[in-house]
Amino acid sequence: MVGLLKPILRRFGYHVYKSSDERIAAGLRFRGGPCSVNVTPQSELTARGVIEMIRDRGLRDLNILDLGCGSGAIGLLIFKELGGDGTVASVAFGDINIFNIRATEWAIRANGFGSLLGTRLRTYLTDALSGVPAQSQFDLIVSNPVHLDAEAGAGMDRSPVELGTYDPGWKFHRDFYAAADRYLSPRGEIWFLENGAYSKEPTLKPFPNANPRLGYVEHFPDRTDPACFWMISRLRRPEVRVAVPATDRAVAAAFGA
Ligand SMILES: C[S@@+](CC[C@H](N)C(=O)[O-])C[C@H]1O[C@@H](n2cnc3c(N)ncnc32)[C@H](O)[C@@H]1O
Repeated sequence: MVGLLKPILRRFGYHVYKSSDERIAAGLRFRGGPCSVNVTPQSELTARGVIEMIRDRGLRDLNILDLGCGSGAIGLLIFKELGGDGTVASVAFGDINIFNIRATEWAIRANGFGSLLGTRLRTYLTDALSGVPAQSQFDLIVSNPVHLDAEAGAGMDRSPVELGTYDPGWKFHRDFYAAADRYLSPRGEIWFLENGAYSKEPTLKPFPNANPRLGYVEHFPDRTDPACFWMISRLRRPEVRVAVPATDRAVAAAFGA
């Protein structure tokens, strides 16, 4: 079937992903297809980084969104490692490409998590956050997103491969960060692994900075692959003002404080 589909897609000018094979990553099965992305070393790098940062900070009971999930590798690797001990409560997967959503659902079932589909594991067909239910609140939104800008319209055929690679005019990043505050719980944070070979921090940081309800916290190189860097943002916390009693103010003033 795939053998038949490939030449037809090529004839209509589509690039065809070489990922119809099944792949194993950290003991889990993933399957791409001619129209969907498969697990890559960078998916594993992202999952490993997220798992380490969660453990370093002792975070618990997390509801996570894996956005631009591809075949579901990042979210599923995290769930396999941390879903059984109270660290991760749920993982939602979102992608603009229906073939990736189907590949993610395949991987959820193929790895024995099928009974959790619709409860602790959910999938959303979505352009940035527009297809994620409005009442959703995530403690972490993680991603190995599209890393390459493409001049608006230049050569873009919106084939699944281009959807997996290009972010024309940085539309995904722009739209995502503009809406992200509404999908974060009060302790919510955004952890994106960007690929420094294609996108640099000064190019990307205006997007979180453009949202006044988000605080862009920092960026730092990945521990395993320093060519990739993490961009961390979180909800801006309301300024806490502590009422100081008048007598204390008078005492402080008397001592020149
Ligand atoms: C670099 S691939 C990473 C796939 C997966 N996260 C992984 O690491 O294996 C980027 C993913 O973002 C998805 N994507 C591209 N534009 C998107 C958009 N506007 N909204 C949601 N997902 C998008 C692509 O379909 C693709 O699956």
